[in-house]
Amino acid sequence: MIKPEAMAAGHAGKVLDMILSAGFRLVSLKYTRLSEAEAGKFYEVHKERGFYRELVEYMASGPVLAAILEKDNAVQDFRKLIGSTDPAEAAEGTIRKRFAESKAKNAVHGSDSDENAAIEGAFFFTTREQY
Ligand code: RTP
Ligand code: MG
Repeated sequence: MIKPEAMAAGHAGKVLDMILSAGFRLVSLKYTRLSEAEAGKFYEVHKERGFYRELVEYMASGPVLAAILEKDNAVQDFRKLIGSTDPAEAAEGTIRKRFAESKAKNAVHGSDSDENAAIEGAFFFTTREQY
């Protein structure tokens, strides 16, 4: 997912180009906006964390671009492409190094396991929207 601040800054095209150039295949793509309730559900695993409220408000603050991506070793390779959560720690050439504003507003989301990728894909897309 391309997060609200990166969308507002006009980075969507460049981020998508980096993703496709890295060999990911687009299975689904949607321009949408999360309500606070939906953002809260999406990041439910973090609900006990101090940053949860801020995270939910931020993720509901504007439109996002949600995608399902396919590649061998996709979860690990995508996390490598996006870089560390905190852009100050992200490697050179990663999406977060290039586009993230801060640890909270860090431009992109990536699933952390195949299991969560399936859950998160179903959160945004019906089976008819996955090709
Ligand atoms: P994501 O789930 O969005 O791909 O990010 P991640 O795995 O790299 O990081 P995670 O620990 O899952 O945190 C989820 C998102 O919460 C926000 N966050 N803010 N203010 C803070 O200290 C803080 N820590 C995390 C970020 O937007 C992070 O991506
Ligand atoms: Mg995460």
